[in-house]
Amino acid sequence: MDKNYYITTPIYYPSARPHMGHAYSSIVADFFARFKRIEGYKVFFLTGTDEHGQKIQRAAEKIGKDPLIFCDEISKTFKDLSIKLNLSNNDFIRTTEKRHFDSVTELWNILEKKKEIYLSKYSGWYSVSDEAFYSEDEIETNNEKKISKISGSEVEWVEEESYFFKLSKWQEPLLKFYSENPKFILPESRKNEVISFVKSGLRDLSVSRKSFSWGIKVPSNKDHVIYVWLDALTNYISALNYPNTKDKLYKSYWPADLHLIGKDILRFHAIYWPAFLLAANLPLPKRVYGHGWILSGDEKMSKSKGNILDPLEIIDKYGLDPLRYYLLKEVSFGNDGNISQEKLENCINSDLANNYGNLCQRVVSFVEKNANLEIPEKDQFNSDDLIILDDFKKEFNNLIKYINDQELNLYLNFIVDKLFSANKYFNDQEPWKKKSDIKRLNTIIYVALELIRKITIMLYPIIPETAVKVLKIFNIDEMKIDFNTITNHEYLTPKNKINTIEILFKKIQKND
Ligand code: MSP
Repeated sequence: MDKNYYITTPIYYPSARPHMGHAYSSIVADFFARFKRIEGYKVFFLTGTDEHGQKIQRAAEKIGKDPLIFCDEISKTFKDLSIKLNLSNNDFIRTTEKRHFDSVTELWNILEKKKEIYLSKYSGWYSVSDEAFYSEDEIETNNEKKISKISGSEVEWVEEESYFFKLSKWQEPLLKFYSENPKFILPESRKNEVISFVKSGLRDLSVSRKSFSWGIKVPSNKDHVIYVWLDALTNYISALNYPNTKDKLYKSYWPADLHLIGKDILRFHAIYWPAFLLAANLPLPKRVYGHGWILSGDEKMSKSKGNILDPLEIIDKYGLDPLRYYLLKEVSFGNDGNISQEKLENCINSDLANNYGNLCQRVVSFVEKNANLEIPEKDQFNSDDLIILDDFKKEFNNLIKYINDQELNLYLNFIVDKLFSANKYFNDQEPWKKKSDIKRLNTIIYVALELIRKITIMLYPIIPETAVKVLKIFNIDEMKIDFNTITNHEYLTPKNKINTIEILFKKIQKND
C-alpha cells in the first residue's frame, strides 16, 4: 500500500505583499514535505491564498480596486514567492476558485441540514485585521482604542443578524478528542492553552456577516456572506476535490497529517475546524502544529509595525539556501525567534561555508588529486570509521521520530554534530600522510565520501538546491534521493567516477 502524507501551510491573506513570517511558515512546511518524500511517502503539499472577507474588501477599497483584481495581483506575489522559495507544493489554492466555492457551499449545506447552524443576532467585538470575534473579557482599551488582548489589533462593535454555528455543543467531544489524541495539538505548551480555553466554555460562533459582500454567499440566504474562517479552513479539503469524497485525492490524503500554522491562528485550527468537521461527520486532521513568530527587534514582523525583512531582498543578497538553513536552524522551532542579517551572515560563514562547503570541497579535491576522481576500493572499516558511520544507523529511528514529532531542532542538531565530526575525522585521519598505505588511504577517502553523501541527504529538505548539486558528485538524481540509505555504509560503488563541484557558499566579508 502507498504511504501517503498530506501537509498544508496556512493560506495567506493577500492584503499585503508577503513578508518573512509567511516565508517561514512555507519553508518549514516544505522541509517536512521534502523529508517525507525522501523517506518514501507520496506527499501532497498544499499552500495558497485566503481571499475573501472584510479585511481584503477594505484593502481593495482603500486603493479603489475591485477585490478580485486586487487579489489576482497580490495572490500572484505569493505564488511567485513560493517559486522563489523553491517550495515543492503540489497545488496552490485560491479561495476565489470555483472548486473552493463548491466545497464551502456543500459543507455549509450539510451543517445547515444537520441543524448545526441557526439564525440569530450577533452583537459584540470584531477585529477585521484578525477576522475574529472577541468576547468582552478579551478586550482592553489602549490609547482610547479598543483592542484585542490576544493579538493587539483594533476591534470594532458589530451588531447584525447572523447565522451561528452550535460550537458550544462540541465542547465535550472536543475535549475527549484532545485527550484521546494527545499529539493532535503541538507543541505541548500551546495544547494546554487550547484545552484551558475550551474548558472555560465555548459559546456558539457567528458564521455569517451581512454588512459587506466580498465572500461566498450563504446558499439559502444571499444577504449573508459565510464567515471567512469557515470559508478559509475548508480550503484543506477543497484542494482534495471535496465534496467528492470518492475522489482519489480525497481518499488518499484526507485526513491531513499536518496543518502547519503560526501560533496566532491556533484557535481556528484546533477548535473551530475540528468542530466543523465533527458536526459534518468528516474525519479530523491528525495534527495541528502552531509554530512561533519570527521577530525583528523583539516584535512580531508585520506591515503595521514597519519592521519587515523582505524575503526577496534577502534571497537576492545571500541566496535562497542560506536563508532556508538559517531560519530552520537558528529559530528554535515552536518558539519565537529573533532574526537579523548579522546572525544570518554568521551562520553562512560558520555552518555553510566553513563546515559543510569546506568538507565537500576539500574531500572532492583530495579525491581528484589522489584517486583520479574515482570512488576507491575500500578495506575493512576500522573503529575510527565505524564510530562516526554507525551513528547514522543508531540514530536512524530517532531521526524519523524527530520529524514525526516536529522536533526540527533535534534533527538539525544531529546534522550539525555530524558535520563537525566529519571535518574532524578528515583532519585527524590525515589521509595526506597515508600515501604509502594505499588501503588505508582509500578507506579514509571512501568513508569521507560516504559521510558527505549521508549528510547531504539529510540536508536535502533544508537546502534542496545545494544538496542536489552535491549529490551530483555521486550522480545521484533528485528523484532517487532516499533517506533510508543513510544506514548503508557501502552505498557507493568502487571504481565509479565522481564529479567535481564549484564553491557552494561564499564567505561573507564583514565589511561588505
Ligand atoms: N488567512 C489566515 C490563515 C487561514 S488558514 C486556513 C491568516 N493569514 S496571514 O497571512 O495573516 O498569516 C498566515 C500565517 O503566516 C500565520 O499563521 C503564520 O503562520 C505566518 N506568519 C505571519 N506573520 C508571522 C510572523 N511574523 N512570524 C511567523 N509566522 C507568521 O492568518
